Amino acid sequence: MKHYIDAFYGFLDRIGYMHPIHPAMVHMPIGLVVGATVFIVIAAFARFHQFRVSAHHVMVLALIFWFPTVLFGILDWQRYLGGAWLFVIKMKLALALALLVFLVTGVVLGYRGKTAPKVLMLIYGLCFATVVVLGYFGGQLVYSGLAPAGPPVYRAGEKVFDNNCTGCHAHGGNVIAPDLPLAHASQLRSFEEFEQFIRNPKMPNGTAGDMPAFTATKISDEEAKALYDYIVHVIEQSSPGQALPISPSPGAN
Ligand code: HEC
Repeated sequence: MKHYIDAFYGFLDRIGYMHPIHPAMVHMPIGLVVGATVFIVIAAFARFHQFRVSAHHVMVLALIFWFPTVLFGILDWQRYLGGAWLFVIKMKLALALALLVFLVTGVVLGYRGKTAPKVLMLIYGLCFATVVVLGYFGGQLVYSGLAPAGPPVYRAGEKVFDNNCTGCHAHGGNVIAPDLPLAHASQLRSFEEFEQFIRNPKMPNGTAGDMPAFTATKISDEEAKALYDYIVHVIEQSSPGQALPISPSPGAN
């Protein structure tokens, strides 16, 4: 399974799409739920009955789009967060399931127009509220994942970081093991130590932790060097804490 996910994202990288897919996809169900809710409110209060039919059709589309949106959410989670069970992920999965239940209920009750628009409004309202909270948690994932931008010489390393590390090490921290932040970690003392660590990550006591291993097929030696330079010269400089003594930047003249 992991092999297919890697191959799929590798293909996307090659055609130039290098972001998670779920955030682009998510506008479909959100927009459709909002549209259906607006239509059902009009049907309930203005008594324009044809709007109830519109609301129903839009809700059916929202239900259809639930599936690819959740699928890509799960794939992105595997690809960018290594499938780690973060609190936000648990919340998002639980809310996505609740949304599925509300959507199905709304679609079934709206079928053939037997249910009063005010009852439908309540269920559509639940869908709407769930989507808003889902969006809130999604935003937490997206905005806490911003990596600081550095001078152009570090762009290559920044890209490697964005693609592989930012999900867990946003702003040089560590969302899974907060007491082991990336910034100012002892493994950053030298490139050799760093590379050895990402190829075979370990907890301080030598046991295996939650960080996935990055083999040379995932991050080449050259990319690892660019990544190291970016972390040491950009992330560490913008994170509070005791900076390590570092060699002059490759771009300095
Ligand atoms: C799925 C989440 C995850 C991803 C992705 C991830 N890490 Fe980690 N990282 C961790 C965890 C958890 C630890 C604690 C040690 C362990 O679990 O092996 C850690 C520890 C570290 C440490 C040592 C920190 C310390 O204070 O001891 C470094 C350095 C590090 N990661 C670098 C990276 C780099 C570079 C990348 C990207 C190539 C990366 N990590 C990707 C979760 C992750």
